Amino acid sequence: MVLTTRLAKHRARLNQHLRRLLPPAQEVPLTLHRAMRYSVLGGGKRIRPILCLEAAAVFRRPPAGIAELACAIEFIHTYSLIHDDLPALDNDDLRRGRPTCHKKFGEAAAILAGDALLTLAFEVLARMRRPAPSPHAAIIRELAAAVGTRGGMIAGQMADLEAEGRRVSARQLEAIHRGKTGALIRASVRTGALFAGADGPSLQRLSRFGAKLGLAFQIVDDVLDVRSSTRRLGKTTHKDAALGKATYPAVHGLEKSQRMAGKLVQEACDDLKPFGRRADTLREIARYLLTRAA
Ligand code: IPE
Ligand code: IPE
Ligand code: MG
Ligand code: MG
Ligand code: MG
Repeated sequence: MVLTTRLAKHRARLNQHLRRLLPPAQEVPLTLHRAMRYSVLGGGKRIRPILCLEAAAVFRRPPAGIAELACAIEFIHTYSLIHDDLPALDNDDLRRGRPTCHKKFGEAAAILAGDALLTLAFEVLARMRRPAPSPHAAIIRELAAAVGTRGGMIAGQMADLEAEGRRVSARQLEAIHRGKTGALIRASVRTGALFAGADGPSLQRLSRFGAKLGLAFQIVDDVLDVRSSTRRLGKTTHKDAALGKATYPAVHGLEKSQRMAGKLVQEACDDLKPFGRRADTLREIARYLLTRAA
C-alpha cells in the first residue's frame, strides 16, 4: 500500500477513536468540551499516534486495544499545541489552518482545555485493559516521564522560553529540541513497541530510531517556519525569528540544518535494519517527515 493511503487510513480510524474518547460537546462544561474537541478534531498529521501503531506493527499485527494508547498520545500532543500557542508562550493566532484555541474560546478555556486533555490522556491509559498489568504500568510511567519536567516535553518548553532572545550553544539547542519535541516522538515509538511486547535490543533500536526522528522532526519544523508559507503550514510562518527563538536555522543556517535533519533520518533508518521489511512503513514515515512541506 502506498504511504499516503496507509496514512490516510490510519488517520480516519484514529479520528473515529478520538471522537469516541473525547467528552461529548453537549455535556457540561460545554465550552471546555467544545474547546477540547475543536483542537483535537480540527486536523493535524497524527504523526505520533501513527508512529506508535506502526512501531507495534513491527512486532505483531494488529495488537487489539492499542487505539487507546495512540489516542492518549495525540491528546498529550494537542494539549502541548494549545498551550504552546498561548500569549504567554508563542502567542500564535493560527493552528492547523484555524484560529488557535484561545482565539476561539478565550485564554481561560484554552488553559483548561489543555489541562483536561493531559488528564484525559492518563485516564484513558489507566483504563487500558491490555497488555497485562506490569507492562501496562511501564507504558504509563514512560509516557508521563516523556512529557514531564525532567528532560521531557515540559522541560523542553521551559528551556525554549528561557532561550528566547538569547544566544544558545549547539548543545543547548539540541537539548531544547530533544525535550520539547523529541521526547514525545521517541515515546510514541517506544510505547508502541512495549505494547507489542518488545524488549532488549529490539526495543533499544526502536528507541534510538525514535530519538533521532524526534530531533529531526523539530529541525524540519524550524526550517519550515523559514521556508514554507502560512497557507501551506496552517500556522503563521517566520514567527521564530520574530520571537528570537533558539532554532537550528538561527544557530546553524538553513542549508546545514536541512543536512543535519537528513543525516539524522538516515541514521534513524539504519537502526531499523534488523527488522527488514517489517519496518518499511516506519522508514517511509521517516523519509516523509524529512521532505514534508507541511
Ligand atoms: C507541531 O507538531 C509542533 C511540534 C512539536 C514541532 P506537528 O507538525 O506534528 O503538528 P500537527 O499535529 O500535524 O498539527
Ligand atoms: C512546539 O515547538 C513544541 C511543543 C508544542 C511541545 P514549536 O513552538 O516550534 O511548534 P509550532 O511551530 O508552534 O508548531
Ligand atoms: Mg513553541
Ligand atoms: Mg509554537
Ligand atoms: Mg515551530
